[in-house]
Amino acid sequence: AAADKGGWSSFMAKEVSEEPEAVANTIRGRVRDGQVVVPELDGMDALFADISRIIVIACGTAAYAGAVGKYALEQWTRIPVDVELAHEFRYRDPVIGPDTLVVSISQSGETMDTLMAVKYARERGARTLSICNTQGATIPRESDAIVYTHAGPEVAVASTKAFVAQITALYLLALHVARVRGTVSSAEGEQHVRELEAVPEKISQILDREQARIEEFAGWMADTRSVLFLGRHVGYPIALEGALKLKEISYIHAEGFAAGELKHGPIALIEPGQPVFVIVPSPRESALIHSKVVSNIQEIRARGARVIAIAEEGDAAVLPFADEVLRIPLAGPLMEPLLAVVPLHIFAMGLATAKGLDVDQPRNLAKSVTVE
Ligand code: G6P
Repeated sequence: AAADKGGWSSFMAKEVSEEPEAVANTIRGRVRDGQVVVPELDGMDALFADISRIIVIACGTAAYAGAVGKYALEQWTRIPVDVELAHEFRYRDPVIGPDTLVVSISQSGETMDTLMAVKYARERGARTLSICNTQGATIPRESDAIVYTHAGPEVAVASTKAFVAQITALYLLALHVARVRGTVSSAEGEQHVRELEAVPEKISQILDREQARIEEFAGWMADTRSVLFLGRHVGYPIALEGALKLKEISYIHAEGFAAGELKHGPIALIEPGQPVFVIVPSPRESALIHSKVVSNIQEIRARGARVIAIAEEGDAAVLPFADEVLRIPLAGPLMEPLLAVVPLHIFAMGLATAKGLDVDQPRNLAKSVTVE
């Protein structure tokens, strides 16, 4: 049967509403006695014990999921991780071999750039693992191992629920490998599992509490010509994803920056009225990083920026300097990107809708790019 919108105004609206299930369904069946055990990775313990580096390759939104995953993979497994665009990796004579695990990420499993990079990695002797949302697609068939995301079919060209599922799968991979290598204790492993399992409910809370308000102010911003996004640590790839989504479906110039880079260039762009989304890291996780981002907000506010802060509940430090504060529930370390991206997906959709655009079929783009 043809996919149907199930009462939603667009596939994208339906798919954003399915972000909680995309995370929950990707976790399901992969936790045993409180620890992550991914059944598809059974029999790979020796490989995981032996590898000395991981290279994540992908394109578009999937590459930003990879960039988030790097933080968890390195923190939990202590294996060095590089994240690279598939088309760049493939053509630069990378240093890879049997000690390298190349993790590809692709919703469709058919992206030609990613497929060619996986084949190339295999020819060069690397081990390959595919994170994919489409059963039986080409990229998983060409890989040594597969961890499927269970986001369900994604129809809208701009990826949303697959993105949160990809981050979830990377976290599961990280916790699985960390268990095998003994780099995370069983108590810590259980704690991370509980935090990950709590994410779907927290995404639902964001959708319930903030969606209408975000859509409303996106509506007022229909004439905006440029939007900037700032983030730090795991919030940095989320800033890039927020900008990409806005470009893709609303055709507005948008750029994401690492907040720490502001003073090295991007602050020159700030003029009165410039909208800037800032993903504010949790002060509970790092008071230092939080205070640095709050300073960035003060700096851009002083130059007239219109600041939309995405901050955790109870973070009062941002209130004096933000024009809007979008709240995300308190969550465990590294879980924030799975929450902070939700308001950005809603915003891009709200703005494109306010401009009267077809959010599911943006001009010039294809869901799956099967040419190099
Ligand atoms: C296309 C789509 C993007 C997607 C990218 C990677 O460019 O328009 O939304 O992120 O391909 O697709 P994949 O199926 O490999 O995740």
